[in-house]
Amino acid sequence: MNTVEDQIISLRKELAHHNYQYYVLSQPEISDYEFDKMLSELKRLEDENPQYFDPDSPTQRVGSDLDGGFTQYPHKYPMLSLANTYSAEEVADFYNRVCSALGTADVELVAELKYDGVSVSLTYVDGRLQRALTRGDGVKGDDITANVRTIRSIPLILHGDYPSEFEMRGEMLMPWAVFDRLNEERARQEENLFANPRNATSGTIKLQSPAEVAKRNLDSYLYYMLGEQLPSDTHYGNLMAAKTYGFKISDAIKLCSSLKEVYDFISYWDTERKNLPFATDGIVIKVNSLQYQEELGYTAKTPRWAIAYKFQAEQACTQLLSVDFQVGRTGVVTPVANLAPVQLSGTVVKRATLHNADVMDELDLHYDDFVFVEKGGEIIPKITGVDKSQRRPGAGKVKFATVCPECGAVLVRREGDAAHYCPNERGCLPQIKGKVEHFVSRKAMNIDGIGEEIVDLLFREKLIRDAADLYKLQVSDLSCLERMGEKSASKIIEGIEASKQVPFERVLFAMGIRYVGETIAKKLCHALKNIDAIANAGKEQLVAIDEIGESIADSVIAFFADDVNADFVNRLRESGLQFSVPESANVGGSDKLKGLSIVISGVFQRHSRDELKQLIELHGGKNTGSISAKTSYVLAGDNMGPAKLEKAKTLGVPIISEEDFERLIG
Ligand code: IVH
Repeated sequence: MNTVEDQIISLRKELAHHNYQYYVLSQPEISDYEFDKMLSELKRLEDENPQYFDPDSPTQRVGSDLDGGFTQYPHKYPMLSLANTYSAEEVADFYNRVCSALGTADVELVAELKYDGVSVSLTYVDGRLQRALTRGDGVKGDDITANVRTIRSIPLILHGDYPSEFEMRGEMLMPWAVFDRLNEERARQEENLFANPRNATSGTIKLQSPAEVAKRNLDSYLYYMLGEQLPSDTHYGNLMAAKTYGFKISDAIKLCSSLKEVYDFISYWDTERKNLPFATDGIVIKVNSLQYQEELGYTAKTPRWAIAYKFQAEQACTQLLSVDFQVGRTGVVTPVANLAPVQLSGTVVKRATLHNADVMDELDLHYDDFVFVEKGGEIIPKITGVDKSQRRPGAGKVKFATVCPECGAVLVRREGDAAHYCPNERGCLPQIKGKVEHFVSRKAMNIDGIGEEIVDLLFREKLIRDAADLYKLQVSDLSCLERMGEKSASKIIEGIEASKQVPFERVLFAMGIRYVGETIAKKLCHALKNIDAIANAGKEQLVAIDEIGESIADSVIAFFADDVNADFVNRLRESGLQFSVPESANVGGSDKLKGLSIVISGVFQRHSRDELKQLIELHGGKNTGSISAKTSYVLAGDNMGPAKLEKAKTLGVPIISEEDFERLIG
């Protein structure tokens, strides 16, 4: 009979193996369900026998809630950056420089992808992850070990014939699918969005709660090994050895014996990278021989044996004409540059965002400057630089507005916030109109026939002061307006009338309470059932609700404490809007999935797995973990495990997409 300790050790080994198969090789051998079962068995044994605790156990990957800042430690080998080039000629220069310094005619190189994430240095001692440091200032970095332990593709325990002590350098990254989902969720919660996966990764890795980091699904690729006793005398050999220890090493690594082969690699990946599930911003070219690397040595900042070839972002140069300051619904003031029209990636660009005062300062923008514009991840292009050599002598610096361009109120900038706000929430027209536009929008009251233009018109004609006034409108008020007939007037009034049936959770969302996005509105309705309970709830009561933190609670309390808001809510109530959850109903629920059992698998574009689970339950269905003959559907996203796919096919269980599912629940 095995001892408990034996059982624990064997389960840990088995789980680490399956973890590696799934996260490093993407070749799972068992179902998620079987994995989870083994994991909970291990967890049970560990809980009952705390003397066998091991920080490297697969049960520890979920992280805990550590608090306090990060301790800094010195790097054993400094973490340098790479010299950048943007042209084939500069790559050839690098090659020739290296050959002549070594006194050789040619040299073997390794070409790799340049991952656009956050670099990390991992120290392994006797096959165990001992410490993970950020780059920091290159000499010392933050100890992020607890967070890094939650990244499933980073091995905690190595296998094979590894050196007793060495460092592995690599990049932590957030795949596009995870990034998109995270930003969607943040948009729903009205939180600031991350500009790109790199920012999202660095924001994630500095979170104070490893449990939160674990939920963000970071990935990693390792690209360099350092130590006294390395397995090979070449960089390529070391990476291949590292692969056998369990590290995630990309397959997109090429040993090149000529410059031509490097160029081929560059041109192949320049287009093919767009199909990768994560962001890359170039190619890294390294001298393969470690002996040669040592001979070539380092400059103060970069190794002489490597270079980064950066992919070109398409860019155009044009002249700045003027800068507008735009006020949004929440009062945030955004600077926007008007440009001399210029062709960029197939469209004509006339405007570019300048984001905020910090970005403007960094650019050191002057009137009439010639600027470089690029299309980033956003819809509106951005200005990435200024050609100072073309600056007009005596040109004045562009300054951020001090007063609101719409209402003249003095702008405010809160401590620690990059944005300027117009504080005149009640008297600043774009803010007042913006609130009405939000109120009628599709996800809020969904009032047909009213968009930005009609809102404009209603304000111009002084027919409304806020959204509650919409419910006082009559066909005759509208039909006499310019470009509006009896027919469109009736349609609008019908739309307004129909919105009285919109469920309470959307009415609450429509009110535009700061931080109360769709999800939070649902949570509040679900927990408190009616408007009076929400308006009278104390802070303690609010923060006890799932996903509601202090700032949301404060915002809800402040909203209802305000007399003008209270009057607004009362007028809506008198107009007959829904202000409570119907007795019998679940919020937004139905029994469309009654009797169905649904398995969720993979990564989804529009909902998190938790949301899908909630939706299944909300509509009367059952969410189950493993596929069996009784499963009604498999709801499949991207990267569904092959084992699950196989099983669903064998048992003839229909596989549906996220869109199919949305149709199913209407
Ligand atoms: S090698 C001593 N290889 O690029 C130089 N770096 O701009 C070690 N990076 O700090 C770096 N992919 O964060 C190397 N395949 C790759 C890389 C890579 C991304 C990052 C890394 C580095 C930065 C330099």
